[in-house]
Amino acid sequence: AQGMFLAKSLLKNSRSAIVRRPTIQSQNSWMQILTKCKENVQRKISPLMTKKKQAQPSLGIGAGGDPIKKIDLAAEKAIADTLRKQGISFTLISEESGFKEYGKAPDRCYVTVDPIDGSTNLTRQIPFYATSIAVSPKPTLETVYAALVADLCRNAVYTAQRNQGAYCNGIKIRPSKNVSLEDAVIGVDINTFKINELIGSFSNLAKKTKHIRHLGANALELCYVADGKSDAFVDIRGKLRTTDVAAAYLVIKESGAKMTNINGKPLKARLDPKRTVSFVAAANMAMHKNVLSLVRREKEKR
Ligand code: IPD
Ligand code: CA
Repeated sequence: AQGMFLAKSLLKNSRSAIVRRPTIQSQNSWMQILTKCKENVQRKISPLMTKKKQAQPSLGIGAGGDPIKKIDLAAEKAIADTLRKQGISFTLISEESGFKEYGKAPDRCYVTVDPIDGSTNLTRQIPFYATSIAVSPKPTLETVYAALVADLCRNAVYTAQRNQGAYCNGIKIRPSKNVSLEDAVIGVDINTFKINELIGSFSNLAKKTKHIRHLGANALELCYVADGKSDAFVDIRGKLRTTDVAAAYLVIKESGAKMTNINGKPLKARLDPKRTVSFVAAANMAMHKNVLSLVRREKEKR
């Protein structure tokens, strides 16, 4: 009976070793792995960067609804290949390919990526685009616990781990303490054909502040709120995919900045390239309250 018990427990242990090994990554090892992913993205996309500002041919429509480009696919593959080389089993949730399972226990680790955030900037050689990777135990935004957003044009790698703060190139970052709307730098994404629905909120903001921006890569713009370069970033188009914000969400949260939905409630969403979110992110509570009230006033009028 003892032999039987030993055999059973050996079998149990070996099974759990097989199943658990890939997902037991310490937070520190995730940071090393995500950095490797980013380095591989840079290696794989650089030969594809053309000097000409020409539209790249589309390879069909991606899971997020936009045309797939060779460069976006190469970046996605670079991330997946790096994770596989590390022996990690995971479900990839990507703007390009949707859901893809790798290894034996893909339901225990979700890696949500926007391989290139700011694809239009990249193809037009506007130096503001990033790669974005988020890790979570469930396919939900609120469970993301390790994240990286890397500016692919400058040496700026934003990282965050749950309860451990947010960093840029290993240095802890903090949002601004500015509470003056007038002096604030506020990012607003107004890229939508349904601009009529946004114009009221936008003009409320524009009337109160001198410095409105939109730089064209929303993950990176959220990181700019996290490290105090800007004071708020607003995207209420209902168009931004959860794959674009997954990593920046944790960077914002861990930096101490505030990000909510349009009703001021915590942002919660399923991670899926088809799922979109609207949000107001701001450096501090006072700035958040001011920006949210300007944006909401119009919504309430409708
Ligand atoms: C885009 C950028 C852009 C925003 C678009 C996004 P993509 O990401 O973040 O700033 O206006 O809605 O789709 O398509 O380059 O990954
Ligand atoms: Ca993209």
